[in-house]
Amino acid sequence: MVGCFLIFSVSNLLALESQNIDPFAVNNGEIPSKKEYSGALFKFNFNYPVSYEEPINTPWSKVTNGKKLTKEKAYDYIMALKKYIEPSVKTFVLDQEKWNKSLQKDWYSMLWAGENVDLTGWEGREAIYGTYTGQIQPASVYKDFGLTVPVRNYAAIYYDKVAAYTLHEVFKKCDESEDSCIPSVNNDEAQFKEGAIIIKAASASATPEQWPVLEGAAKWKIYRKPFDMNGTIKDKPPVVTDTRVTIFDIIIKDSVAAPETGWVFTTLVYDKNAKGDNAWDKMVPLGAMWGNDPAVNSAQNPKEELLETYINPKAPAYAKVTLGYGLRLSGPFDIAVKYDVKVNGKTVKKLRSSSCMSCHGTASFLPKSYNMVTPFYPVESIKNGIWTMYEPGSKIWNQWFQNRWGNIPQSEEKDVIALDYSTFLEQVLMNYAADYSHDNNLKNYSIFEKWRKFKRESRSH
Ligand code: HEC
Repeated sequence: MVGCFLIFSVSNLLALESQNIDPFAVNNGEIPSKKEYSGALFKFNFNYPVSYEEPINTPWSKVTNGKKLTKEKAYDYIMALKKYIEPSVKTFVLDQEKWNKSLQKDWYSMLWAGENVDLTGWEGREAIYGTYTGQIQPASVYKDFGLTVPVRNYAAIYYDKVAAYTLHEVFKKCDESEDSCIPSVNNDEAQFKEGAIIIKAASASATPEQWPVLEGAAKWKIYRKPFDMNGTIKDKPPVVTDTRVTIFDIIIKDSVAAPETGWVFTTLVYDKNAKGDNAWDKMVPLGAMWGNDPAVNSAQNPKEELLETYINPKAPAYAKVTLGYGLRLSGPFDIAVKYDVKVNGKTVKKLRSSSCMSCHGTASFLPKSYNMVTPFYPVESIKNGIWTMYEPGSKIWNQWFQNRWGNIPQSEEKDVIALDYSTFLEQVLMNYAADYSHDNNLKNYSIFEKWRKFKRESRSH
C-alpha cells in the first residue's frame, strides 16, 4: 500500500546525530532574553486527569438531538462548540499575557513534543506561546487575496480534560522524577472518549500589510528562527515575531453526530468583515465534516453533493482556496491542495488531494519497527520533489476517503495501531521512537530519514 519511497539520498545521513530527548521539556530551549521579551512564557501542563467523566447534556448534543449531524445543523453545531469553549479560550486567542499567567484550567499539552528532534525533523515547542512550526506556502496560493510573501503558520494545540484523559492512558507509565516516559498504545489506550475536545489555533507569519485578509486579527508573539521556502533557516538566531491568528480548529469525539468515524472536525477562520467586537468574535465557521463521504466519487461525479461536509457559504473567500478533494473540508494551512503533481504520467497544476479526516485518518504507529505506515496523502511515489499521485477516484485513492472507526487502521499491515485520528500523537510517538533508537543504539536511521523527508515534503505545497 505505501508507495515506493526509494528516492532519498543518503548524503546527509551522517550529518544527523541521534540524540537523547527529554519527553518533559517545556520548550525547545531557546528562551528570549528579557530585553527581547519581558512577558510571561508558555506553561506546560501535563498533569493529565486520571479519571474520565462523560459530559452530559452538552450544548452540541442539543443540536443533534440524538441523530447524526446534517448540513442543515452543522453551522449551529460549530457555534455551540465555539460558545462552549469560549470562556477560557477567548483569553487564549486575544490576550497572550493573561493566558500565560492564568491557570488554564482543564487544558493540557503534549509530552514528547517540547524538544527539537533531529531524527524526525520535529522543531519543538517555542518558548513564548508553546507553538509548533507549521507549513510554508508561497504567495501564489493566495495571490487573489493579496498575499505578497511566503507565509508560515505556527500552531498551538490543547487537549481538554476529556481528551487529556486519553493522554493519561497513553503516558501513564511516565514519571518525571525517574526521567522515564514509555508510551502505552497496544490496548486501545490511544482511543479518545466520548466528548473529548482538541483545539488547534494557528497564526500566520504575514502582516496585514503583506496579507490584507488579516487586518484586525489577534496578534501573538512567538520566538522562532526565520524561514524561507525550504524551511527554517537553522543557522540564524530566533527572533520575537508578531504573528496573526488566522484559523481555529475544534475537533470533538461525538459518536452520535458522527456514527461512522466518531469525530466531528470543525474549523473557524478569521473574517475581517464579520460582525463582532473583537478578533475572537470574528472567527467564523469555515465548515465541519463528520465523515469522508465514501459513497461520493468526486473525481467521477464532481457535481454530486457531499453529505458529510458542510461549508459555510458566508465564510471568507480566501479560506476556500484550500478546500480538499471534491471540496471536502480542509483549512487554509492544511495543504490539502497539491500543486504540479503527476497523475498517470501527466502534470496536474492543482490537485485537491486530502481533507481533514482523510489526512488525520492515516494516524497510526508500528511499534518496534517504527516504519512509516500510511502517508498522509494518496501518493504513490515522490522523486526529486515530484509527487506522483494515485488516480483520483480509483480504488486505491479512495482508501484515503473511507469512514473508519478510530481503532481501525487504514493499513492492513500486521501489528499496526490506529491512533484515533490523532496525527499529533503519531508525531510524538515517532519522537519517542527516535529517543528509544538512540538509547538502544538501533541502526535504523533510514526509517527516520524516510519519515523526516516525507514530513518535510508534506509540509510544503
Ligand atoms: C494533510 C494533512 C492534514 C490535514 C489536511 C489536516 N491536518 Fe490537522 N494535523 C496534521 C498534523 C500532521 C498534525 C500534528 C501537528 C503537526 O505536525 O504540526 C495535525 C494536528 C491537528 C490537531 C491537533 C490534534 C491531534 O491530536 O492531531 C487538530 C485539532 C487538527 N489537526 C485539526 C484539523 C482540522 C479541523 C483540519 C481540517 C480543517 C485538519 N486538521 C486538516 C495534519 C493535517
